[in-house]
Amino acid sequence: MKLVVALVLLVLGSLLFHWLSPWWFTPLASNWGTVDTTVDITLYITGIVFVAVNLFMAYAIFLYRHNPSRRAHYEPENKKLETWLTVITTVGVVAMLAPGLVVWAEFIKVPDEAHEVEVVGEQWQWRYRFPGADGKLGEVDSRYVSEANPFGMSPADPAGEDDILVRSNELHLPLDRPVKLLLRSKDVLHNFAVPQFRVKMDMVPGSVSYTWFSPTVVGKYDVLCMELCGIAHYTMRGHVVVDSEADFEKWLAEYPTWSEVQGRPKADAVAGKAQYAVCASCHGQQAEGIEAMNAPALAGLAPWYLERQIRHYQQGIRGAHQDDTFGQQMAGMSRVLANDNAIRNVSAYIDSLPAPEVPGTVSGNVAKGAAHFNSCGACHGAKAQGNYALQAPRLAGIQDWYLKRQLHNFRQGIRGTHEGDNYGHQMVLMARSLQNEKSIDDLLSYLNSL
Ligand code: CUA
Repeated sequence: MKLVVALVLLVLGSLLFHWLSPWWFTPLASNWGTVDTTVDITLYITGIVFVAVNLFMAYAIFLYRHNPSRRAHYEPENKKLETWLTVITTVGVVAMLAPGLVVWAEFIKVPDEAHEVEVVGEQWQWRYRFPGADGKLGEVDSRYVSEANPFGMSPADPAGEDDILVRSNELHLPLDRPVKLLLRSKDVLHNFAVPQFRVKMDMVPGSVSYTWFSPTVVGKYDVLCMELCGIAHYTMRGHVVVDSEADFEKWLAEYPTWSEVQGRPKADAVAGKAQYAVCASCHGQQAEGIEAMNAPALAGLAPWYLERQIRHYQQGIRGAHQDDTFGQQMAGMSRVLANDNAIRNVSAYIDSLPAPEVPGTVSGNVAKGAAHFNSCGACHGAKAQGNYALQAPRLAGIQDWYLKRQLHNFRQGIRGTHEGDNYGHQMVLMARSLQNEKSIDDLLSYLNSL
């Protein structure tokens, strides 16, 4: 009898959960209403079968409960029963699968008028490429990937010259225009998914997969990676913004073409030396860092990292938080660099200076710190030497008091919470995995030992 009650409660509970719970599809923002229909059909069919089977079980348990005056009779075959059970099951399975086949056929057939956009997945970022005026994407190959050519553009293909390279996690798309996304990965398996568009497709290194849709609602949506792709998989987030045609064009015009990227003058360390004079008053003549000025060493840091931080200071992405006093000072100072060339020159000059010897100031357990560093090393390198591919700066040879403050800032959300600071956001998530002050001191002691 208890079992009967349990089964009936299971059915009632499941139905109530379905009707009352807030978890359901996110509002649809693309043409793929049919994807929802197929899921609905599957849910209704399995739901009806679930209710019917469980209630029948409860009924049978109740009706045929133990009774000493009754004996079960043996009936191994029942042709009639087997026939209609087989027919009903077949109809149910066909009804569940057939609509999916119809929708899948549409899903893989891209309309001719769709415009193409390439999505590049890499640990743990999203990048995008538009074909430019010729409407054709240039050839790419991972052999060509370098600091100067992160997309791996082929130097031999003229079709790539006007390709627009979007080195940002945010993609904009024009409203109501079908788009074909060409998906590729630079390293491991990723999966491009936007729940509101109902699209989700694997990205496989060495090949180009695709998906298509028409965005139908203006708004901002999350891009999620839905393939476990390493230690920071859960931080691999991006955005898609659906815009009016005019806003979209305006956004796209902000990004350089491949030929513009190549045409940039080489960074000039000599010119950078003069520009560095202002920085020297806090960071030191040799960019060795001055603790009394709360200014860390800059020598030893890679130019790509310095450039990004200076740009972030200028754009209010870093150093804008009200509790980030030193960051605010730096944000003000960063504006003495008048343009992008100045930023690149000064970074090139700093890069030419020798990395300083920095004395350790914290005391902690080096062995425990080494264990904590395991997850950091996945991005920052086994020797904390930094890793361009993952855009993770060098940590070895950086003053521990500075690293300590930054870890604190990340943990408190003082750094890394600005919308435009995607790497910073990843660091917020990672820094919070350190349990307490003690773990931080252990970690810093280990870094000092490198
Ligand atoms: Cu990329 Cu998970």
